[in-house]
Amino acid sequence: EEIRVFCPATIANLSCGFDVLGVALDAVGDEMIVRKTDTKGIQITKITGQDLPLATEKNVAGVAGLALLDKSDYKGGFEIEIHKKIKPGSGIGSSAASSAGTVWAMNYLLGKPFSLSELVEFAMQGEKLASDVAHADNVAPALFGGFTLVRGYNPLDVVPLPSPKELYATVIHPQIEIKTSDSRKILKTNITLQKGIKQWGNLAGLVAGLFKNDYDLIGRSLEDHVVEPIRSILIPGFDDIKTRSLESGALGCGISGSGPSIFALSKGKNIAQRVAQAMTQVYEAIDVEFDVHVSPIN
Ligand code: HSE
Repeated sequence: EEIRVFCPATIANLSCGFDVLGVALDAVGDEMIVRKTDTKGIQITKITGQDLPLATEKNVAGVAGLALLDKSDYKGGFEIEIHKKIKPGSGIGSSAASSAGTVWAMNYLLGKPFSLSELVEFAMQGEKLASDVAHADNVAPALFGGFTLVRGYNPLDVVPLPSPKELYATVIHPQIEIKTSDSRKILKTNITLQKGIKQWGNLAGLVAGLFKNDYDLIGRSLEDHVVEPIRSILIPGFDDIKTRSLESGALGCGISGSGPSIFALSKGKNIAQRVAQAMTQVYEAIDVEFDVHVSPIN
């Protein structure tokens, strides 16, 4: 018995929601095949597309899978094949896709004994291996689809949010790798009350905009006063890409997850494609190699 699953890439943070907001991309992701076996434990049998460890304890998929097995009374095991399309260290939830895909597929094959929120907790163990911190803002949208809010971590409280129909994401990935663990180390641990007020105003505004289908409100709220000023220094051409994206009609633009990918949200596919062209021109002008994607969000 086996299942083939699509594991979506995700944009975490979405500017104002550091560690709490994320969205799944419908058109960008990995594929996995997960099959039941009689041998206990998790075996990663094949990885294509990237050079990643096959050893269960060293692979985020293996670690997430073991977390599920630990809470299950199933006596057998699973074999996993991972076909990576999302590059590790790109900022669009590569590790989350593998962790989330594994536990979703295992749960399906076991007859769905666990809730989506429980699956998020298992998948977070994979994130812990990848970035030292068990953040859920990539794995939650990868499992629930669409936008999710992690209202709280202790206990975990994931709130799925609505996705306005015409919202499209553009994501450009300059071909450098930034480890989430490294880009977390450079952050300050305190923020001023003034910055806090701006940030939670925007976060609430963005969530309200999603519920009201209010694209202008979504656009006004896509700002980050806390993390972007620090992390953007690591990303080539960030300021130009942001300026050009907004000039091309994007509602907002910021760092995807811990970078280096940069995302923009737009109303309608045409604008999202125009934004992709504008981003492309910036990197072509400064000779930075890149991948660019336009994806619906649902
Ligand atoms: N919230 C995490 C961070 C996401 O920004 O460090 C990492 O993908």
